[in-house]
Amino acid sequence: MNMKKRLTLRKRKLKGMNHSDRLLTRRMVVFFSQPVVIDTRNQQKLLADQPWEIYCPLKNRTSLNEDEGYSRPLYQHSTFYRIVLPCPHQATAEIEKWHRIRLELVNEFGLSLFGAQATECALELRCELLSQNIDSKNWQHDTEHSIHIRPIQADRWDILNNQTIKWPGFFGGGHGGFEYIIRNVSGKQRHLTKTKYVLHCIPTNNTKQTVDALSLAVPISLSNNSLTGYNWQESGHEYSKVDMGRAFMLDPRLTRAKKDIFCMIREVWDAGTPGKLWDSALVIADLIANRLKQQPRCLEKCHVVDLSAGTGCVGLLIKAMCRSMGNRGPKMTLTDLPEALGLIRRNYRLNQSGIDDQVQIEQLRWGVEADARRVTAKAQVDIVLASDVLYVPHAFESLIATLYHLSTSHRTVVYLAYKRRELRDCDEARFFNRCSQYFHINLVQDLSQMSPPVYWEQRFGPLLSLSPLEIWFSRHLTHANQQGHVQVYRLVKKPALFDSPKFRQT
Ligand SMILES: C[S@@+](CC[C@H](N)C(=O)[O-])C[C@H]1O[C@@H](n2cnc3c(N)ncnc32)[C@H](O)[C@@H]1O
Repeated sequence: MNMKKRLTLRKRKLKGMNHSDRLLTRRMVVFFSQPVVIDTRNQQKLLADQPWEIYCPLKNRTSLNEDEGYSRPLYQHSTFYRIVLPCPHQATAEIEKWHRIRLELVNEFGLSLFGAQATECALELRCELLSQNIDSKNWQHDTEHSIHIRPIQADRWDILNNQTIKWPGFFGGGHGGFEYIIRNVSGKQRHLTKTKYVLHCIPTNNTKQTVDALSLAVPISLSNNSLTGYNWQESGHEYSKVDMGRAFMLDPRLTRAKKDIFCMIREVWDAGTPGKLWDSALVIADLIANRLKQQPRCLEKCHVVDLSAGTGCVGLLIKAMCRSMGNRGPKMTLTDLPEALGLIRRNYRLNQSGIDDQVQIEQLRWGVEADARRVTAKAQVDIVLASDVLYVPHAFESLIATLYHLSTSHRTVVYLAYKRRELRDCDEARFFNRCSQYFHINLVQDLSQMSPPVYWEQRFGPLLSLSPLEIWFSRHLTHANQQGHVQVYRLVKKPALFDSPKFRQT
């Protein structure tokens, strides 16, 4: 394809994305990719021909040019992979019948495994059935049904399956799946359509495992016959979209409940950056979880802001942890761009216990002082959690302005979880230099550089980096650096020497 044609193609692709998405994927878009038809039968073959792909359910897939050096850093810092659905899964599972589920492994950008990592990939999965208790709204292991799984069975029509697949999960290639059957073990005939169920696919964490991956939660309905039922999508669109998410088991050492409790987070990958959970979110959630383990009431009466919350995972996990430990937890404000708030609300409803749990979901656009003031007007902010917000250099000034407007000296601490990917040294230095005009900055693991503690830290001590044993939410991820290259910075506003600094409009 000639250069002109490539550029026109690229322009067309970029037009369909929002601005931040465009920047994030700017370097990942390829100019010469062939649209790949998604056909579950031939999928493995088609995908095997195109090893560098961006996960994009139900849209034309794009591939990366292996020659282009810029794609390497996106892999280099990827240690956590995600198990995803490459196509919609059948929403209704009939009891006592075998069903098949196809899966794929991608990193946080949606890039498939490639090269030796793909061909040698081995990941065995187990599966559990979770259901939402109708009264408490807690997500728990379902006690009325059992689930059994087996490797995908060879089909005569599918030559790819003629190899012996040894275990359920992934067995070379980054594409896998398994078959499952659900049986009623209670003997009771429940109103199956009233209960929400989730298939939870989890790495077994055994010695065969070559890749670290987050587990996958797939909503399903159960039926004794072929009725359709519950699905996370709006009604009428049950099979039209890939519907999936993550289920986080709260640390049983923390919870008072006799059963394991899960926090359910839905992802919408084709909604761009806010639609999925980023690695930094896991790291910051673990830091807070660890503090809650030591001091269960440390966040009570605090105001915590999950800035640009995306799926809302960090804030909702914190609320779920506090609830399971029997306290109300902090006043939590989850913020993002207006178009991203819908997913946060859905995730909030998915875990809502029905009690007044002091959760606010607010629009907060970086650099818009009125948005930040609306949040601080409700209560001064004690903790700002900012996970993976440092990726758009042109928005740095606005982001710093927002952190400034949310913060009060001696009162507010910002935890900025940042993973270096494609940002240039000079951009990174520019952000931290500009930030240091208004904030004391230190790494969470380097207390020697720490400025005087803020009010919350005086009472409960600063957040500390974790030992591998203290990690819970990313505990399945054992192979690579547990922090997944994520650094957590502590930012505390300097006492104002002048009235109100002027931030450039960006
Ligand atoms: C990489 S995602 C991180 C999401 C979430 N914090 C996490 O770690 O999973 C970046 C988030 O920044 C938000 N964002 C991007 N530009 C923004 C802006 N100008 N104002 C407010 N939020 C913005 C996006 O909507 C998205 O939710």
